[in-house]
Amino acid sequence: MASFDIDWIRSQFPALSQDLGGYRPVFFDGPGGTQVPESVIDAMSRYLVTSNANAHGAFATSRRTDELIASARGAVADFLGCEHDEVIFGANMTTLAFAFSRAMGRSLKPGDEIVVTRLDHYANVSPWHALEEVGAVVRVVDFHVEDCTLDISDLERQLSDRTRVVAIGYACNAVGTINDVAKVVRLAHAVGALVFVDAVHYAPHGPIDVRALDCDFLACSAYKFFGPHVGVLFGKREHLARLQPYKVQPAADEVPFRWETGTLNHEGLAGLIATIDYLEELGRRVSASVENRRKALVAAMEASRRYERHLSERLIQGLSRIPGVTLYGITDSARFDRRTPTVGLTLAGRTPYAVAEQLGDRGIFTWHGNFYALGLTERLGVESKGGLLRIGLLAYNTDEEIDRLLQALDDINAASA
Ligand SMILES: Cc1ncc(COP(=O)(O)O)c(C=O)c1O
Repeated sequence: MASFDIDWIRSQFPALSQDLGGYRPVFFDGPGGTQVPESVIDAMSRYLVTSNANAHGAFATSRRTDELIASARGAVADFLGCEHDEVIFGANMTTLAFAFSRAMGRSLKPGDEIVVTRLDHYANVSPWHALEEVGAVVRVVDFHVEDCTLDISDLERQLSDRTRVVAIGYACNAVGTINDVAKVVRLAHAVGALVFVDAVHYAPHGPIDVRALDCDFLACSAYKFFGPHVGVLFGKREHLARLQPYKVQPAADEVPFRWETGTLNHEGLAGLIATIDYLEELGRRVSASVENRRKALVAAMEASRRYERHLSERLIQGLSRIPGVTLYGITDSARFDRRTPTVGLTLAGRTPYAVAEQLGDRGIFTWHGNFYALGLTERLGVESKGGLLRIGLLAYNTDEEIDRLLQALDDINAASA
């Protein structure tokens, strides 16, 4: 096994080495959106020069566009571990989730139930609440406040033979908790419910295998895993064929095209292919013996997970010694395989916005607020106080950047003493 070559990784991302008014920026805003490799930028502009056309035309650039769309589907199929025709593209995860909830709503009866969780981003909550207009009943699963892990007993209590859909996050974008999705799927399937997984936060942090999870749907967003602004959805073929999408009548009615409304973001798909190429190359660098793209992608994501675990340890250990810091989520390093390196915290006497602004002035980019994980910030009692400060790390971040953050927080504390 080769080592994780952080210098090579960073050299792929031009944004990481830019000078922003005297500072080299530290991007700890990854859960809001990641930076992209140069190859992604090049692929997007190359598409616009050489292939820019609508699909299904009888001329060269349109044929290239058709090939590009098919090739993007193949790349994502390898990323998620599914078949090409189980991959759907859309504007972003939220739009895809609304499209699917609306389609599922067509077959619901009043009194049918949908289970959502308080750990989730509202992109996997509001589309299901929208179905209350057809008489669906939405049940909300709680989490353990002490470590922000899902309350599985509560989930079991909420499931019944009336449950039609369970909407669950793979990982929480505010505090990093990774849910045991395979277990949730088993429990949901046991009562005959379908499972819709929001993997937007998880996707840059570990391998995804939709067959092993046995989930029915799984959505993610390329701009959270080093790509452009394109939404991606996996659906089991049988469901994609059976459910009725809202679509324009002349558009193809075959799977997967029937789920793709309007013209796709072709240059975004060109960038998405290059993103997956980048991850494949990373996989081949960390594990020389991989035989195919899928295995290389799994190797890349497993190596990223190991490296990120080390980052989590350094970050959480460092934050724990800073006076006034309250950390939310899993802090016991023995359980770090159940979290991403995304940390939610508060600093006594300052709003998350004020801290994010002071860090921003020092070139350290973090996020503040509820990150649309409103159920979580309300339950933690921080929503009325400005939410949380979120420090979100990725495989392109470094120990040195963590140390800069810790020093900056010490300085902010000292300035207010
Ligand atoms: C966990 C999670 N789910 C869903 C979303 C929404 O994704 P999109 O912007 O692709 O709609 C986000 C965005 O921050 C997220 O973090």
